[in-house]
Amino acid sequence: MTRRILLVNGPNLNLLGTREPEIYGADTLADVERLTEQTAAQFGLEVRAVQSNHEGALIDAIHAAREDCAAIIINPGAFTHTSVALRDALAGVALPFAEVHLSNVHAREEFRHHSYLAPLAEFVISGAGVQGYELAVRRIATLLS
Ligand code: DQA
Repeated sequence: MTRRILLVNGPNLNLLGTREPEIYGADTLADVERLTEQTAAQFGLEVRAVQSNHEGALIDAIHAAREDCAAIIINPGAFTHTSVALRDALAGVALPFAEVHLSNVHAREEFRHHSYLAPLAEFVISGAGVQGYELAVRRIATLLS
């Protein structure tokens, strides 16, 4: 069985570390990817990390995961609240996935309270900062074991 997780970070998450640090913290995207990889390695899992600001590129990466990944961790950024296409891509590949948000979206503006993806997710982690990615890997490792 494939021992690889696709890590997907959506729009604006390339700006992590400088973008609204009071909300998203000081860690960079490279820090997030390193933490995810290091945690996964503890469970004998590999990570393929993808970040894009483009919906279609995210959908292509999700489709490709069907070939060689066992699960997906996705922070869809603002596409969480807008994208039926991303939801359909995740439904289409039928891989177990975790939805992760750095901030607690439920404590923020009303438009962030709805997620098109969450009903299909194995679980959602919101508001745990970068540690949310680590927790997601741990839970996925359990689900895959
Ligand atoms: C986010 C929350 C979203 O509402 C927002 O659009 C983001 C980041 C988070 O990680 O907290 O870009 O997904």
